[in-house]
Formats: sequence, C-alpha cells, structure tokens
Amino acid sequence: MIPKVELHLHLEGAAPPAFIRDLAREKSIDISGIFDDQGHYAYRDFAEFLKVYEAACEPLQTPEDFRRLTLAVLEQSAEEGVVYTEAFLSPDFCGGGDVAAWRDYLPAIRDAADQAEATHGITLRGIVTAIRHFGPDQARQTALCAAETADDWLTGFGLAGAETVGMPGDFAWSFDCAKEAGLRLTAHAGEWGGAQMVRATLDALPVERIGHGVQAIDDPALVDRLAEDGITLEVCPGSNVALGVVPNWAAHPIAKLRNKGVKVTVSTDDPPFFHTTMRREYDRLSETFGWTEDDFFALNHVALAAAFCDDATRKRIA
Ligand code: HPA
Ligand code: ZN
Repeated sequence: MIPKVELHLHLEGAAPPAFIRDLAREKSIDISGIFDDQGHYAYRDFAEFLKVYEAACEPLQTPEDFRRLTLAVLEQSAEEGVVYTEAFLSPDFCGGGDVAAWRDYLPAIRDAADQAEATHGITLRGIVTAIRHFGPDQARQTALCAAETADDWLTGFGLAGAETVGMPGDFAWSFDCAKEAGLRLTAHAGEWGGAQMVRATLDALPVERIGHGVQAIDDPALVDRLAEDGITLEVCPGSNVALGVVPNWAAHPIAKLRNKGVKVTVSTDDPPFFHTTMRREYDRLSETFGWTEDDFFALNHVALAAAFCDDATRKRIA
C-alpha cells in the first residue's frame, strides 16, 4: 500500500458515528436526529453539515473522550496506509475555547498520539483551528490557546467553518498572534467563497497553505499566483463531491490545478461524513484522472514538503 501523508483532517469530523453514538448513550445525550437509518451522519447541505458536526461534538466532553477519539481516528488512518497526519484541533469543542480547559485536553490528545505512533507507526501533528462563524473575538481566544501551547508538536494555526461569514481580514489579529508564536498557518478558502475568497485570504493573512482552494480554478491569474508563490492546496475531492462543491469526480479541478503547476495534496477532511477514506480518495483519483503510483508518490512528496513538522520528523517519514 502507498504510504500516505494527510494534511487536512478535522479530528472531531473523523469520529466514527458509532463512537459518537456510544458516547452519547453513556452520557444520556439525545443526538439521534443527526443519524440516518443506517447510522450514518445525515445532512442535506453545508449549513446542515455544520450543525450536525457541532451536535456530534456534544458528547465529547472530557480529555478522556478526546484521548479515545484520537486513538480511534489514528488507528483507522493507519489502516489506510497513512504514515503522517495533521489534524485540526478545535479548542472551541474542548471546554468552550478556554485556555485553562484546552491545557487539560491537549495532553490527552498527545498521549493518544504517542500511543498510536508506538502501536501503528503513524505520526500526528496538531493545528489549532478557529471556527470562522463563531466570529473574530472567539478566534482571538483560540489563537491565544494556540500561541500558549505552540511547540514542536502543536505546529499550526488554522481557520475552518462557514467561509461565507465575515472576511479573512477580520481574523488578521489571530493569525498574526499565532505567527508570532512560531506557528505555521493555513485557512479554509475557496470551498464555498469563490476564487475571490482565496485571493482575499492570501491578501489578508500570511498563510502558506489553503484548505480546499479549489474554486481558484475560475480565476486563471489566481491559479498562476498560487503556482508562482508555491501555496499548497489541501484538496479534499471526496468532501467536495459529497457536499456538492462540484457535481461529480470528473468535474473536480484537482488535475487541472496540478497541471498548471499548483502544489496540490489530497486529504479526506471529515471521512465518515463523506463516506470516504484515504484509499477511496486515491482509487477515485486513479479511476477518474488515470493517476498512477508515480503520481501518488509525487503527490505525497509535495504533501510532506508542505507539512508543518520539523525537518527531523520530515526526514524520518520520507
Ligand atoms: N469546511 C469548513 N469547515 C469545516 C469543514 C469543511 O469542509 N469540515 C469541518 N469543518
Ligand atoms: Zn476542512
């Protein structure tokens, strides 16, 4: 199996539905409405996806819950041949984004990461992520959580959530704060907000990577800028198809972006929500665009070069 590097995975979004259902039952929380008849997460569009996502986070209430979640997620990723993952961690879903609580959750997540590395040989690094629709004030608190816990494991700061709420510049303080703490930066853009949101993000925030970014394809000058500036796109094709960002796999712009010299990488985003896995992403890319083992080798090389880990870790993975 091809050793895979994944740069865009939301930790809570990777929670298997059965894991969340069992946790909800243990705590007598009724979230039955977020599942369909087959027990999968059920939503009709992106707005509903975000609501279901937040409801699925409700039973995650203690550091121990996050320790178990991290172990379950990494075990699954390792089975898919993933050797290195960067996960978006949201202090907003760990005790309300308060630094005092976050300081209790982070060691539990890291403890699970150490255990998974020893057992399954998979390496995890964390990216603290603000949620855009929770607003710039909350993002500042999240950035402070990130800055206070930044080290060689907690290596990045990001922005996810509803991309059409507010503008990237609203979050400049948070990104500057994270950058000053030595964190590497990425932001979701160009999943829903169009090419202009990718442009606005690059203009306002000192990011090295963009989450999704696929709508940049509508603006040829922007595609050239991405290629020239060496911005890496964390592309999640299965997520885009499942949520209706593109109508089908054949219409996905990943191959066009790659052919234009943009650094594209492949990730799953929130795998159980989108009925995907890293192996399925690779299989679909191979079926749709004829990508071969050589293409995937090159793709993973690009991903590892753009990873937010230190060089010693990068060399060990390569
Ligand atoms: N987009 C924005 N926010 C998210 C996503 C996504 O695909 N997944 C989890 N949070
Ligand atoms: Zn995402």
